[in-house]
Amino acid sequence: MISTVFTSRKSKAIAIWCGVLLLVLCFHFYVSYQRVELPGIGRSLYGDNYRDPPPYNQAGDAKTIKRPTGPKQTTPPAGPKQLYTPPKNEEKKQRFPKALIVGTGKCGTRALIDYLNMHPYVTIAKREMHFFDRDENWSRGYNWYKSQMPRSYSNQMTIEKSPSYVEHPRTPSAVRRMSKDTYILWVVKDPVVRLMSVMALQDENSNLRHAYLEYSRDGKLQIRKEYYPLWRGEYVIHLRRWLRYFPLAQIHVLDGTDLVKDPVTQIQQVESFLQLPPLLGPRNFYFNASKGFYCMVPFSTTTPQCLGSSKGRKHPVINDTVKTMLYDFFRPYNEQFFKLLGKRFNWEPKERV
Ligand code: A3P
Repeated sequence: MISTVFTSRKSKAIAIWCGVLLLVLCFHFYVSYQRVELPGIGRSLYGDNYRDPPPYNQAGDAKTIKRPTGPKQTTPPAGPKQLYTPPKNEEKKQRFPKALIVGTGKCGTRALIDYLNMHPYVTIAKREMHFFDRDENWSRGYNWYKSQMPRSYSNQMTIEKSPSYVEHPRTPSAVRRMSKDTYILWVVKDPVVRLMSVMALQDENSNLRHAYLEYSRDGKLQIRKEYYPLWRGEYVIHLRRWLRYFPLAQIHVLDGTDLVKDPVTQIQQVESFLQLPPLLGPRNFYFNASKGFYCMVPFSTTTPQCLGSSKGRKHPVINDTVKTMLYDFFRPYNEQFFKLLGKRFNWEPKERV
């Protein structure tokens, strides 16, 4: 009789459907019993306490989590604490600088160190130490120099600047003795523009404003070659000395005029040279049209901070004859400098210097 029932086509179909239903039910009960959950759905593979890290953006700060209700949230400026994590179980201590801004004075050394100070991984010496170039400081020894440095963590970079390190004959070898891994930062400028920056410091009516000029025996106006501010602008002489102690790859030379015009690009190149996390960007600079210079906007604030009134002075105007004399004087030094450096800067006569 059974065989008669199953031989009919209708009964066969019913039997297959019952079988499939039974299998589905069995699988469902098995899954519920084992509490198997797939990654991404329900319980995480890594246990209940695991949370995915917050999404990372270029500024290194966590993106704010969108809240479904309530008033629209505005993202506050990321504070240094969000961007910087000190190493665990470590005390801050005084350390030698890992990078030095060695010069040249009047080329933008203050701007460079203050810009870098916005970087959460950087700590700066609070004043120019002049350790390597001034005998009274040099005689106090390396430990004294270290004792003048700010306290920092091991993953931070201490930076000091003294704008005449670059010319002092002792500095390259003495810096190498401190650490052969020191990063050297050097801001230069068209030496004629730099000279006018020095001249701007002199009283308008003072003879010193023209101290770079003299009359020859036969009464011709000429450049006073031994004048110290001119020598400071003969950059090739100084670079040659540094290259006896440091490879060129360890010396980053930037044009101070580029730093004035485009601080973002310049500071990002410096960040990369110093192997710092790329954190500084357009958010940190605000162009102050009345000053004609960029001001800083550190991560902790939205209020721009400008350099003092001693930076960005009006330069004296020089006549075309004197200008030509000065450019002719510096040109051979500049050419040798570019050759040694392997890059050129645009240091040709300008309307205003
Ligand atoms: P001037 O005052 O001749 O214009 P240093 O700090 O090495 O003494 O360099 C001073 C120069 O820094 C100034 O020279 C100015 O051109 C330059 N500078 C660069 N960035 C600046 C900024 N953001 N604000 C003011 N001066 C700046």
